[in-house]
Amino acid sequence: MENTHATPPRFGGDWTSTKLKVLAGYLESYTTALQARPFKTAYIDAFAGSGYRDARRKDSNETLSQGLLFPDLAKEEPQALLEGSARLALRARPRFNKYIFIEQNAERCAALEAIKQDFPDMADDILIHQGDANEEIQNLCSKKWDSRRAVLFLDPYGMQVEWTTIEAIAQTKAIDLWLLFPLGIGVNRLLTRSGEIPESWQRRLNLLLGTEDWYDELYNTQTNLDIFGDERERVVKAKTETIGRYFNDRLKNIFAGVADKPGVLRNSVNNPLYLLCFAVANERGKEIALRIAEHLLRDVR
Ligand SMILES: C[S@@+](CC[C@H](N)C(=O)[O-])C[C@H]1O[C@@H](n2cnc3c(N)ncnc32)[C@H](O)[C@@H]1O
Repeated sequence: MENTHATPPRFGGDWTSTKLKVLAGYLESYTTALQARPFKTAYIDAFAGSGYRDARRKDSNETLSQGLLFPDLAKEEPQALLEGSARLALRARPRFNKYIFIEQNAERCAALEAIKQDFPDMADDILIHQGDANEEIQNLCSKKWDSRRAVLFLDPYGMQVEWTTIEAIAQTKAIDLWLLFPLGIGVNRLLTRSGEIPESWQRRLNLLLGTEDWYDELYNTQTNLDIFGDERERVVKAKTETIGRYFNDRLKNIFAGVADKPGVLRNSVNNPLYLLCFAVANERGKEIALRIAEHLLRDVR
C-alpha cells in the first residue's frame, strides 16, 4: 500500500534533509517578506510526491524504466519517517494563499488528497493536479501573473525537467524557483568519458539543457604526442564543477537573478548528486530573494 497520511514511508538521507531545510527556511522568509504586499501567493510543488519523504530507492522499476537514473549513487542513505516538501510547505507561517501540488503517480495523488484531513482549515486552498510536471507548469505559467507571486519547487528524481518549462517560469516575472539539477545522478553520467553519447541520451540532454551546444561547451579535443612522437587526438570531458557552472550560467541568461553558488547535495560518500539551484524571475524582488537564498545555501557545499 502506498503512503497515506497514516502510514508514512521510510526514507530520508542527509542530503534530503538539507534540501528540505533550505526549502522550508526559504518559504517562511518568503511569506514573511510578502505579508504586507498586495500579492496573492502560491506554493507550487511540481514533483510533489506523497507528502512524506518518498521511497525514491524503492521505486527502482520506475526510475530504471526511465533509463536515465543511477540509483546506486544514493542508495546507502539512512532511512527516516519524515515529512516531505508538500507537508512542510503547509506548515510554513505566515501561510501561502494557495498550494498547488502536481504529481504524476495516482497513489501519491491520493496520499496528497489525504493531507487535507490533517490541514482542514487549508483544505480548500490545496489543489492537486495529477499529470506531467512540464505540461502542468507550462499551463500555469501561461496565466496572468501581475497580481500573483509564487515559490515553485522542482524536485525530480532525474532528468524529467525540460528547459522550455524553466523558460516559462522565468517569463512569468513572478516566480521564485528552487530546482534540483541532476548533476551527478543524471547529466554527469550521460556525458560519457569517451564523448560517444547514445542518441536517446543526447535528446534528453537537449531537452534539459535547452540547447544542442552543450557538447562543444563540455568537451574539447586535446592533441598530445605519443611515445613515438606522433600526434594523437583525445576527447576531454569537462569537470563536474564546469558542468554545474554551465547550467547555472544558462539560468542566468533567462532569470532576473540566480544564486551564484548553488547548493551541492552529496551522498554519504561525498559524491555530488544534485545541485540545489535558485533563480528569481522578478527584477524588483530579486535582491532580497537572493540574499535569503544565498544565506540558506552558504553551508550546502
Ligand atoms: C523526488 S520525488 C518528490 C519528493 C518530494 N518533493 C518530497 O520532498 O517529498 C519525485 C516525484 O515526482 C513524481 N514524478 C515523476 N515524474 C513526474 C512527472 N513527469 N510529472 C510529475 N510528477 C512526476 C514521482 O512520482 C515522485 O513522487
